[in-house]
This record gives sequence, C-alpha cells and structure tokens, in this order.
Amino acid sequence: MVKVNISGCDSFVAAADYQNYVQKALAAFDTLQAENGAGNDFLGWKTLPVDIPESLIKEFEDIRDSWKAKGVDIVVVIGIGGSYLGARCALEALSHSFIPSKDYPRIVFAGNNLSEEYLAELMDLVQMKNAACVVISKSGTTTEPAVAFRIVKEHIEKTYGKAEAAERIVAITDAKKGALKTLSSQEGYKSYVVPDNVGGRYSVLTPVGLLPIVLAGFDVREMLAGAAEQRLALQSRDGENAAIKYAAMRNLLYSELGKKVEILVTFNPKFQYLGEWWKQLYGESEGKDLKGIFPASVVCTTDLHSMGQFIQEGDRIMFETTVKVENSNREIVIGSDEQNLDQLNYLAGQRVEHCNAMAQLGTKLAHIDGGVPQIEVSIDRISARSLGELFYFFEFACGVSAYLLGINPFNQPGVEAYKKNMFALLRKPGYEAQTEEILKRL
Ligand code: PA5
Repeated sequence: MVKVNISGCDSFVAAADYQNYVQKALAAFDTLQAENGAGNDFLGWKTLPVDIPESLIKEFEDIRDSWKAKGVDIVVVIGIGGSYLGARCALEALSHSFIPSKDYPRIVFAGNNLSEEYLAELMDLVQMKNAACVVISKSGTTTEPAVAFRIVKEHIEKTYGKAEAAERIVAITDAKKGALKTLSSQEGYKSYVVPDNVGGRYSVLTPVGLLPIVLAGFDVREMLAGAAEQRLALQSRDGENAAIKYAAMRNLLYSELGKKVEILVTFNPKFQYLGEWWKQLYGESEGKDLKGIFPASVVCTTDLHSMGQFIQEGDRIMFETTVKVENSNREIVIGSDEQNLDQLNYLAGQRVEHCNAMAQLGTKLAHIDGGVPQIEVSIDRISARSLGELFYFFEFACGVSAYLLGINPFNQPGVEAYKKNMFALLRKPGYEAQTEEILKRL
C-alpha cells in the first residue's frame, strides 16, 4: 500500500497551518466522494479497479495468443497523452531494461508526436518485423495518432492484405462517435471502449492501458488488485488518509509558501515514465484558471549531476515528492579488490541498492538544508501490484488536490488552443477564417 511521509516538510510549515489544510483537503475529499463537484460526469475511474470484468482480460489474452500464433513480434501502440502515457509507464517499469522478452512481442509507441524522423525510423523497424497494431484515441479525432495510424495501417494492409489487416488491428475508442469508431466498424476491427465517464489521463486501468500491458505479458489482474486495495485504503475520511496528507501538504506549500513547482523524484530509471504519466495527470488536471503547481520530474542520481545544482541552490520555488521504492527486485553485492585503487573497499559486501538508499537519504537532507520541502510516497517494490496502487493513489489524490484548489480536475480546455492554430496553418477544411487570421500574424 502507498505510504506518504511528510516529515521532510516539518521545518518549513507550522503544524496548525498543516491542520488547516487537512480540513480543506477533507472538504475536497467529501466533494469527490459525494460526486457533486465540477466535472462529476468524469468519475468513472473511481471504481475501475472493481469494474473491469474478468471476461475482458480473457479477451485481451486471446488477442495476445492469436497474434502469437501468427508470429507477431512487434505491436505498434498508437496514441497520445492519456491514450499513451499509462501503458508506456507500466511497460517501462515492468520490462527488463535491456533484454527484450522472448515470449511476448516488442511494444513500440507511435502517434505521440509529429516528428517525421521518429515515424520513419519506427517504420524502418516495423518493416523488418511481423507487425500488429493497437490504435487508441478516445475522441477518435486527434491528429497525431490519426497521422501515425494512416501510415501503419497502410503498411499492414500492403504487407498482409486487407482481410488479414483486420485481424491485426485493434481500436480503442469512444463507444459511438468519432472517426476511429466509424473506421473500425467499417473495416471490421475488434474494438474496445474508453468509457464516456473516464477522461484520457485517468484511463490507464481501462482497455487503453490494460490491452498493451497484457500484450507485453504483464499481470493486469495483479495491477487491478493493487488498485482495488488502494481504493479501499483511501476511503477513510481522516488526516491519516495518504491522499489527504499529500493533497493537504502540496497545497499548503503552494498557496502559503509560494512553492510553485513540484518535482517528482525517482531513484530508479524504470520510473522515468511514472514521472511523465504523473506530469500529465497533475499538469492537465490542475493547470488552469491561472492556477496550479507546475509538475516537473527528475531521475536520480542521474539528474543530481544536472538539475541537482538548481534544486540545491537555485530560485527557491520548488518542493520535491520522492517515489521511494523500499525493496529492489534484484541484488548486486559490491566485491572487495586487493589493490583498492578506486578506494571503494569501504563498500565491499554492501548491496548497490544500499548505496542508492544512502544517496536518497543524503539528497533528502541536503535539499531540506537547501530550502526544498520533501514529501515521500513509498511503495514496497516495483511490481504490477504496486503500480496499480500508485496509479490509483495519484489519481485519487489529484481529484482531492484540484478540488482543494478550486479547479475542475477533469477537463483540459487549454489543449485546444494549439490545435486550432495548427489546423488553421495546415488549412484544414472548415478553418478558412482562422487561416486568414493567423497568416496575418506571421
Ligand atoms: O487526458 C486527456 O484527456 C488527454 O491527454 C487525451 O488523452 C489526449 O489528448 C488524447 O486524446 P484522444 O484519446 O481523444 O486521442
């Protein structure tokens, strides 16, 4: 279960101020639980851990097995934002960092950018492999995945024929509307639904995240069980609730101490994409109405040799939330060396993870001394189960935190601004007036 430790903020905040924010967080918690706050038609994520039927997971395993029988060794997962980051985060955390699986296909991601070089190089690889594709877009109209899908679909149809392509493409989209829904009905693709009441960045425990994770061979039942257990743990209406503690402290640091930036810190490179997923969740949920904590992330100790200088001595605008992993899944003991030229014999017999833990503790104390408040979010070890716990914890805490700040956590009106300009510049039909306007600015 996720634990939150806020003792690293003790020297920055008064106990009475914290209690005041706990009361505010409890009021926000009530709004989330009563489901009467802004955006309350997007609360389907709250019960996903117990709503996903076993039959759906079986269907995903059947797809995995049928693709295995065809010799599929690469699956292109197409999507952006919430239709991308959850699966990417889980696969980065759970996969071997260097050795590809022998039993399951390689998963590669497309449609999360518009770089021609990225897509061309991805296709260089896909063309050498036996490919299938999962295309994900809740709206079914997002440009980035649509462009990538057009390219990948063309390749699959040319290589395997149109009928076989329909066996190798799965769509995840809206139940009724959108271009992707129309296309998949027409082409006969298997398709799965992103529920109406679940926004993209809260969708990792829907088919959006679950199908790619199953295809890569990981245990989504464990992930859902972890999320379900976390859900139960977060039902208690008190100041010990981990989500209340986190929401209260981060809002206190932001509103009373002017800490405008929160850095999610990990000491494990496998969690780099947890940082990316978390940044989208909090950035898109809270950054509106000219308010919100700016979410950033670092991977340590790597980034202590780059961003570490700023965090220690730069402008005092930030606090840190470290995702602490209590136990490593692997063990390497540092050996002794007769000559000891590297002077590391004092570490002989110690595990590398002990050094990592001491680096983590040393960094925490140094950053407290440097004026950076510290929150810790701990899990036992990196596993499908603990990822489920983390996903649910951060989603729930985000709802509480945004309500505390007076923000609707479930919309993202600001994302439309760049799209309108891009469509005008690309001369999309229907945008003629905007094209004329924007060209005057250039
Ligand atoms: O959280 C969100 O709603 C967004 O980040 C979306 O996931 C993202 O814009 C992709 O949208 P769609 O799935 O409709 O293509």
